[in-house]
Amino acid sequence: MSEVRGSWGSKLGFILAASGSAIGLGNIVFFSSNAYKYGGGAFYVPYLVALFLIGIPVMILELGAGRFARRSMPNALYQMAGKRAEVAGWFGALNASIITMYYIAILAWILGMWVGSLGALWQASPVEAFGLSSGELSNSMSYFFNMISSQRPLLYVVLIWAANILIIIRGAKSIEAVVKIFVPLMWVMMVVLIIRGVTLPGGIEGILYLFTPDFSVMADVGIWKGAFSQMFFTLSLGFGIMMAYASYLPRKNDDVLSATTISFLNCSFEYIAGLAIFSLLFAFAIAPKASSLSMIFFVVPEGIAEFPVLVGIFGFLFFTLLLMAGLTSSVSLVESVVLSVIDKFDLPRMKVLVGVFLVGLAGSVLFVLPQVVDPGLSDDGTLGFTLVDLFDHWAFGYGLLICGLFELIILGWLHDIDALLVFINESSRVKLGSKFRFLVRYILPLVIVCILVLSAVDEITGGLYGNAMETGGYSGLHFVAFAGWIVFSLGGAVLFTMLKRRDGGGGA
Ligand code: PHE
Repeated sequence: MSEVRGSWGSKLGFILAASGSAIGLGNIVFFSSNAYKYGGGAFYVPYLVALFLIGIPVMILELGAGRFARRSMPNALYQMAGKRAEVAGWFGALNASIITMYYIAILAWILGMWVGSLGALWQASPVEAFGLSSGELSNSMSYFFNMISSQRPLLYVVLIWAANILIIIRGAKSIEAVVKIFVPLMWVMMVVLIIRGVTLPGGIEGILYLFTPDFSVMADVGIWKGAFSQMFFTLSLGFGIMMAYASYLPRKNDDVLSATTISFLNCSFEYIAGLAIFSLLFAFAIAPKASSLSMIFFVVPEGIAEFPVLVGIFGFLFFTLLLMAGLTSSVSLVESVVLSVIDKFDLPRMKVLVGVFLVGLAGSVLFVLPQVVDPGLSDDGTLGFTLVDLFDHWAFGYGLLICGLFELIILGWLHDIDALLVFINESSRVKLGSKFRFLVRYILPLVIVCILVLSAVDEITGGLYGNAMETGGYSGLHFVAFAGWIVFSLGGAVLFTMLKRRDGGGGA
């Protein structure tokens, strides 16, 4: 390697960065909307099962593999199991790139809301593009529709990309400097929001809703599917993000302890975010809309607007929190892609940063396109919003779990799993034995295959995609999104694998 690989300045720096990656929009929005969808307290049993069965074990494996190979995912997998495994690694990195592009588009809209929280968000305004009168909508909704159908998100998306590149400019070093400030601040802001939420009259009922178990829905497979996919997303697993971060670790690290710490930090944040959001929903009797994104863009701001005092300050706090949580996650996505390219082609970091910035920005621009495709707003509204939905369906709904499955097959079967476990055990207090091996080789792949098959059945019988086609009528776009996903992630994976490796070794 022409450039010396950096490393975390301290273990704390690593834990903060990894938990910063894990704690993101998923924790603040997707968890609560999933929990709401499945009846509150019903969600936490499958969620906890998913945490212990899949979350912590896969996190241990990713940390161990990253530290073992000292490379990002495609290159680590190549080193461990050859070219076939490398294709899977690039498939993961490219899927992660798609998610990065729209994750950053969502952050651009959040930046728009953040700007609005300084004033305009709380005032009534006519909604021009959608032909709706402001009387029908809350102020935050009107502001949001006006913002997404304007050209402003194009500027915001450039700013968010620039912020990401700046944060990762010096790899682990600069990421660490930022997460040391952002991550503790996120916790403080969340606690302030919870205190405000639970002290609202009626707020406590929301919390009871979140914690009262309802076992009658346990037989619904959807809730299990929801919990397991959520676990992969929320812990940033499957795309090799944790592998990339662990490749910056020193030779010795207790991976079992780190994985457990990161997972618990993440899941506790998720629950306390749930407390804040559910207390708001119940205090003001607001029902979340179908889409989880509506939670951040309308539902919570609608609640905040009802606060008796300090509306502007709490609104600003909420969007600042979202921006920070989102940025510490998006940088991990961008960094893992950047590192994958650097590790394979031995290019200078600066060159790779410029390339990733340009390609990534072009992709993100697609997701903020302001053209109105659905004036009635029965579905998505703008072209960008529709594309987010469609690509999320493939890259997150399927891609993430497929990558997780590949990863388990490679680490469990193609590579010598015992050697990896010995390596992890060497510096861990808790030792992993044959039960863990059995879990990795049989149970986890089986669970993921079941979820994928159930999703595909739903798809074919018209539950998910079929349903969207009926209501949205974007069948052309649906096809484009599917083809785009396949060509970009699978075609790209084959291409990247075929390109000549210039890292001077590390072969299987
Ligand atoms: N874990 C992040 C969240 O909860 C999202 C993410 C997914 C980040 C995958 C990196 C990789 O928002």
